[in-house]
Amino acid sequence: MNFPKSFLFGSATSAYQTEGQSNLTDWHDWEFVPGHIIDGSNSMVAADSWNKWQDDIKILKETHQNAYRFSIEWAKIEPSEGNFDQSAIDHYKEILIELKKQNITALVTLHHFTNPAWLGKIGGFANPKSIMYFTRYATKIIKELGDLAELWTTFNETKVLIMKGNLQTEWFPGKFNPWRAFKMYKNMIKAHNSAYIAIKKLGHYEVGIVQNISAYVVKKPNFFNNILVKIARYFDTTIFIKPTAKHMDFLGVNYYMKFELQTKAPFLSHPNTLKNDYGWSINQEGLYQVIMENTRWGKPIYITENGVADEKDLIRPDFIKQALENIDQAITDGAPVKGYFYWSLLDNFEFASGYTMKFGLATIDRQIRPSAFVYRDLIDKLISK
Ligand code: BGC
Repeated sequence: MNFPKSFLFGSATSAYQTEGQSNLTDWHDWEFVPGHIIDGSNSMVAADSWNKWQDDIKILKETHQNAYRFSIEWAKIEPSEGNFDQSAIDHYKEILIELKKQNITALVTLHHFTNPAWLGKIGGFANPKSIMYFTRYATKIIKELGDLAELWTTFNETKVLIMKGNLQTEWFPGKFNPWRAFKMYKNMIKAHNSAYIAIKKLGHYEVGIVQNISAYVVKKPNFFNNILVKIARYFDTTIFIKPTAKHMDFLGVNYYMKFELQTKAPFLSHPNTLKNDYGWSINQEGLYQVIMENTRWGKPIYITENGVADEKDLIRPDFIKQALENIDQAITDGAPVKGYFYWSLLDNFEFASGYTMKFGLATIDRQIRPSAFVYRDLIDKLISK
């Protein structure tokens, strides 16, 4: 395999899904409404990483990972508008210092789906004031913590947040509202670009954005199917990345799905029958495709998420192995892939699905699953080469 010596082998989490004590976020009231979370659970404890973050770092070390992607909860940093909580900032500082001590590269996400409740109340990113608020928050964090992490990203998956909250309505705020979706789309682009510019004025920080990118192929090659696939790629990927492409030092790619398309029913299908616990079909070769398609931005690429809900841990070992094989092929073919973060380090609160989906290399009780050791052995093999 062709992995460079500096390649990052890690896993990812997000604050809201793992930390607990999420009462200051805009999801808090929403998740307590019966019917919103499939198993009637809430995120108030989650994996308790707010208290158990040292255990999380231990798992990273035990499984020989050299990188960790996690997010900062804006709601904890700025619990009311304009008031920053120094103790919350210091909490993340402690984590970053420990990661450095342990030689684990940190990739930190500033926004992984949740807003402070006060911002949610005035419309979240549908409100144009969010651009200024987000830039101010990003600036504050970089001034305080910028030198402690190697890589920073603004948003996680703007597309998914916009779609699930306003078009599919299974996430907060859960009302079908295409106009609100459009306003969020515009404002999140502006917020990213504005935060990027502000951060770059503070120093030589590496700043990217993370997007969810699916692989699209034709069911049968013909003129109309080919056009359909081009349209799908445009609306899935291009419209989300292009407006930020001049303001990113790298692209974070979250890959989960591959679709076959055709112009007659069923318009959309999945090429494989092997499915995860969600029912999503597994097609790791799509990872190669999305990497190659996204070399067009001319930026380094990190696979910031790629994971499988697999409680029995039967699919995960091959899933990880195949991810690394596809990345290896992409690197061989010239793609500048710099790291891979499995989703997720831990089982966690999976938004509307509560605790029903188990993506973790380890359980919430920090029991490390056998697949994590398969990952460890692959890392050892690839790093020692
Ligand atoms: C999100 C994660 C989520 C994962 C699995 C990704 O789109 O970034 O927060 O847990 O999908 O559903």
